[in-house]
Amino acid sequence: MELKVHHIGYAVPDLDRAIAEFMALGWSVSSVVTEDALRQVRIAFIKLGESVVELVAPTAQTSPITKQLAKGSGAPYHICYEVASLEEAEAYLKTKKFIVFKKPAVAPAIGNRRVEFLYAKGVGVIELVEENHDN
Ligand code: NI
Repeated sequence: MELKVHHIGYAVPDLDRAIAEFMALGWSVSSVVTEDALRQVRIAFIKLGESVVELVAPTAQTSPITKQLAKGSGAPYHICYEVASLEEAEAYLKTKKFIVFKKPAVAPAIGNRRVEFLYAKGVGVIELVEENHDN
């Protein structure tokens, strides 16, 4: 099972402000800002060298990110791993005591690729993104 780091997710209260501050540190925006209505968030991907960070800001009080921010602002809260198959990776990780936190669903911010969230007590939340099978 090969897992490759795809991005690190950051919960931020204000997307535009976070982008401006990260840009001051040398990061550049690598995707158009996407609104994800299902998850009630706005998302931007930024890049510095080989590192990719996903900035995630809530668009509603009921967004899961609102709860995340209540625990601390601007915090990295997940590492996303790219895998060949979500089903295969999930089966493997379940043998390692990870539990499914959010079932596979399409992510508009990542070109409608499928993502899934899992959880383990020591690591916290991880995200899996499936490789693009269209090209
Ligand atoms: Ni993510």
